[in-house]
Amino acid sequence: MKPDVARAAQILRAGGLVAFPTETVYGLGADASSAAAVARLYAAKGRPADHPVIVHFADAAAAFEWAREVPGAARKLAAKFWPGPLTMVLKRSPKAQDFVTGGQDTIGLRVPSHPVARALLREFNGGIAAPSANPFGGISATASAHVDVKADLVLDGGASEVGIESTIVDLSQDRPTILRPGHVKAAEVEAAIGEKLYDKTADSPRHSGGLERHYAPRTPAQLVQTYELDAEIAKWKDRVAVLAFSRPDERVDFWLRMPKDPAAYAQRLYAALRELDGAACERILIEAPPDSAEWTAVRDRLFRATA
Ligand code: TXA
Ligand code: MG
Repeated sequence: MKPDVARAAQILRAGGLVAFPTETVYGLGADASSAAAVARLYAAKGRPADHPVIVHFADAAAAFEWAREVPGAARKLAAKFWPGPLTMVLKRSPKAQDFVTGGQDTIGLRVPSHPVARALLREFNGGIAAPSANPFGGISATASAHVDVKADLVLDGGASEVGIESTIVDLSQDRPTILRPGHVKAAEVEAAIGEKLYDKTADSPRHSGGLERHYAPRTPAQLVQTYELDAEIAKWKDRVAVLAFSRPDERVDFWLRMPKDPAAYAQRLYAALRELDGAACERILIEAPPDSAEWTAVRDRLFRATA
């Protein structure tokens, strides 16, 4: 069935909540100009009110109206990566009110590329505040069936292609900074703006990806180096569910094999974590991916899921 974008836009205008697909993960959307709608959004997610939310737009021109300063670097990034899986943090304009910025002087802006998200944004013709469509701290949704927060409507747009949340670049300070790694790599951002990035991933208390435990299954999960996997399996045997690159080990009943390509791995990650959680084992073992730049975003999510 064709997603009912007109009805979704109507619900947003009336202050309701619409879950919708993006190329990264599904978002839970609310009218970003309505304090009441955004309050409902925070309540649905169980999210602390001082946490800023990303606002989504149909195009860069609309997005930049919510910033009072648009540095050259922001225009370069918009030209290169929008629409797409990149969020920029800029100094806010009066359109970005305290209830979306968590009282900060900055605003997170994103122009997604998913056709259903774009159709909804065009139809709504305004900013849509949208955190990932999962309870605060839980596993993000990459399919409509995985949306596990209360929405007035869930639009279906198939499986999210990227599978992990957007790269967040902060351009509101003196030096451009990566706040959250994602599909768009730091090196690609640096090439586009012609400047080195400061990597603050590890010490940013004000973005929720910066809290220790996040994207986490309910089952205790641990990262295991390849050389430790055999010994850990010997310890847990059939009480464990495993996410690994290698073929299944016969001592384990629940085993998911992951691709060796980082983009393909990212695309499947959250659905896999949900499946492992559903296996109701005592523990989840996750084989650690290589410690190289192409795995940065996936490793970030795995570190937090197992924190
Ligand atoms: O891919 C994505 O970005 C998805 C889809 C739905 O667009 N959205 C998403 O939203 O991941 P959320 O709320 O789950 O994560 C947004 C992150 C949070 O860590 C938040 O603190 C940070 O962005 N953030 C938003 N505005 C910010 C700001 N002004 N300054 C610093 N961090 C900000
Ligand atoms: Mg989230």
